[in-house]
Amino acid sequence: MEIKDRVALITGAASGIGRAVAFELAQRGVKAIAMVDMTDEIDVAAEQVNNEVNAKIAFPFKGNVTNEDFRTKVFETIKKEYGMVSICIPAAGITRDALAVKIDRETKKANIYSVENFKLVVDVNLIAPVYWAMQMIADIAEDRALRGLKKWNAEEGVQGTVVFIGSISSQGNKGQVSYASTKAGLEGAAATLTKEAIYHGVRCGVIHPGFTDTPMVRAMGEEYIAKYVLPDTQLGRLIRPKEIADAICFMIANSAVSGELWADAGWHPSPA
Ligand SMILES: NC(=O)c1ccc[n+]([C@@H]2O[C@H](COP(=O)([O-])OP(=O)(O)OC[C@H]3O[C@@H](n4cnc5c(N)ncnc54)[C@H](O)[C@@H]3O)[C@@H](O)[C@H]2O)c1
Repeated sequence: MEIKDRVALITGAASGIGRAVAFELAQRGVKAIAMVDMTDEIDVAAEQVNNEVNAKIAFPFKGNVTNEDFRTKVFETIKKEYGMVSICIPAAGITRDALAVKIDRETKKANIYSVENFKLVVDVNLIAPVYWAMQMIADIAEDRALRGLKKWNAEEGVQGTVVFIGSISSQGNKGQVSYASTKAGLEGAAATLTKEAIYHGVRCGVIHPGFTDTPMVRAMGEEYIAKYVLPDTQLGRLIRPKEIADAICFMIANSAVSGELWADAGWHPSPA
């Protein structure tokens, strides 16, 4: 699907991978980008994207991706001004890492991972991205129905693309019982949406980044990264956000690519 002149929407766009995708899409000529995030930094990020391409194409939206009213308002606003969103990258995500079951050294009692944290991570990392994606699919489907169109056919050209951000943790990672569950969950959601949404001409895929140089990973600390991350990657360094953004654009642009892409820098953790 050609990226040029499309309207894109990115969540988690104030930082890391989401922000890098905004720059990459801007450089590849999108008409407009809705940049969504819950922090004030989103205004700065949108301004930086606009400065980069010397045009006002990035528009910041501040809010929580789990809020349904916020979601519909963002889609309505950007559609009214610039047209229908046809690239959706729901990248906002969080971690709440802790062992699933941990024995307290003193009391010998087992602590089970907090259910509140599990639900929070599911809301942000799994339910929200799926609903942002379904909103785009719904808008495209409605528009087609209003124009009297039924089942999409290849001559019409691809109508839209979703790329979910999975993770190498979807295959399991110590200390990430909630995070890994959400990233594996995205695979099931994407596989289902892939089958349903192509009726309306929309493709869905999942990229699984390895450890990428963003605030989320830097929060682990330099020592942890040096000891537990870098030795298990063939590349010997963290992945650059731009490399993930480039891979996401490849998934959007090349409609023959389907399913999942592992951009993991050769991650090969030793068995537990
Ligand atoms: N960095 C990595 O190594 C890595 C690896 C695999 C997958 N990922 C995934 O890539 C995505 C981006 O991660 P990142 O490393 O760039 O992290 P990041 O922390 O740099 O950026 C995440 C952004 O999401 C925003 N956000 C979080 N919760 C939100 C909410 N409820 N509403 C609105 N905005 C919210 C944050 O404010 C932040 O700007 C995440 O889905 C993450 O799970 C990251």
